[in-house]
Amino acid sequence: MAILWVVFLASGVLAWGGNQSRPFLVDEEDALMTVPQLIRKYGYEVEEHQVRTEDGYLLGMFRIPTRSTPRKQPVFMMHSLFSSCADWVLIGPKHGLAYLLAERGYDIWIGNARGTRYSRKHERISVNDPQFWDFTFHEIGFYDVPALVDYVLERTRARKVHYIGFSQGAMTVFIAFSQRPEVNEKIVQVQALSPAVYMNRSQSSVIRLLVSAAHKIAEALTAIGKYEILPHWEKQYYFFQRLCPAPAQLLCRLLIYNVVGANPEQLDVKMLRIFLGHFPAGASRKQILHYAQIIRDGIFRQYDYGDPVANRQAYGSSVVPLYNLSRAVAPVRTYFGYNDNVINYLNVLQLNRELPNLVGSYPVSDKRFSHIDFILANNVREVLYAEVVKNVGIAEREFVLSLET
Ligand SMILES: *[C@@H]1O[C@H](CO)[C@@H](O)[C@H](O)[C@H]1NC(C)=O
Ligand SMILES: *[C@@H]1O[C@H](CO)[C@@H](O)[C@H](O)[C@H]1NC(C)=O
Ligand SMILES: *[C@@H]1O[C@H](CO)[C@@H](O)[C@H](O)[C@H]1NC(C)=O
Repeated sequence: MAILWVVFLASGVLAWGGNQSRPFLVDEEDALMTVPQLIRKYGYEVEEHQVRTEDGYLLGMFRIPTRSTPRKQPVFMMHSLFSSCADWVLIGPKHGLAYLLAERGYDIWIGNARGTRYSRKHERISVNDPQFWDFTFHEIGFYDVPALVDYVLERTRARKVHYIGFSQGAMTVFIAFSQRPEVNEKIVQVQALSPAVYMNRSQSSVIRLLVSAAHKIAEALTAIGKYEILPHWEKQYYFFQRLCPAPAQLLCRLLIYNVVGANPEQLDVKMLRIFLGHFPAGASRKQILHYAQIIRDGIFRQYDYGDPVANRQAYGSSVVPLYNLSRAVAPVRTYFGYNDNVINYLNVLQLNRELPNLVGSYPVSDKRFSHIDFILANNVREVLYAEVVKNVGIAEREFVLSLET
């Protein structure tokens, strides 16, 4: 273990370079703004919606309304773990995926999972009640994704939506498909960016360490009555700056490189600071434990209560049910990075083999592309979003043709 750490530190030092080229049209103050404020600031119209799930959570969803003629199917986007819909707009206009698609006439809807910064409300349960936090990504896939998609369809009167998800946001749509196969019929196509379905080949020693300590950490959190993990916090931008002042910055970077994969040339330091004003945005203790299980076991299945009686109570069987990927019959395209330490590319290839309607799978051409690069890399538009936007267009044309025949 110690040797691993030395190797990782050394490789991080060698990789140290940094890139301050700042291709993005963003300001430092963006770290302190909300997503609707950001969208407005950069000259786009924005609407704020609240969506109720079957189990009473009230989710925030934002829209960049775009009305093209002829009308296109709307685009729905879902963010990653610990993040929020900021994933799609932080790098600003001309780069952010939400803006690129809005410019092409798509009506953009960006959702927020329960428990995150913009979705901390419930009809009956207070956010301070442990019961509010009794969910994992299962409920995000089972309740939130279908509710958000239905809401978009209702408001736009469209037939289907284009679905774009990053990491957890790509995984939760497969939970929806598996548990509620009728959701397939509401999706033109899924574009899954670094989908967090199989994760047992994660190359990060920090993630591995956390997974092995997960149950101890969870017990400690229960003991102090903490069910919410890393909530968004108004002062976090200042906190991270103080935590990572100039002399210690190298260590902070090495930690980030270890967790997500090192690609210093594409990581703009200013962009990272802005990101840390928005990330983390909250998750539940149970959600993190569920991640630890799928990383450890390499099996995409429901939450394991760890004892047959509790599992029987929850699932009617002592065996924890698998998510059935053969029910994901909507067309899917996957995207992966060779230097993604969270979702190893072999785990994406494994998912590909199980998807009955995979229409394309794209390695990012930049061989050093990391997990965080999917939303922050200097070159993300050129090496990734251009392809995603093109494929939304292809799926849209095919959909229109299918209506005519
Ligand atoms: C920084 O990133 C830009 C844009 O991707 C690239 O052209 C440039 O070569 C990089 N600079 C360094 C020093 O790596
Ligand atoms: C990951 O899980 C798969 C089964 O899903 C298994 O075949 C493979 O050996 C595991 N790999 C590692 C590195 O644990
Ligand atoms: C998975 O779903 C498919 C299609 O609905 C079904 O034929 C198959 O039996 C299911 N597999 C399991 C293990 O439930």
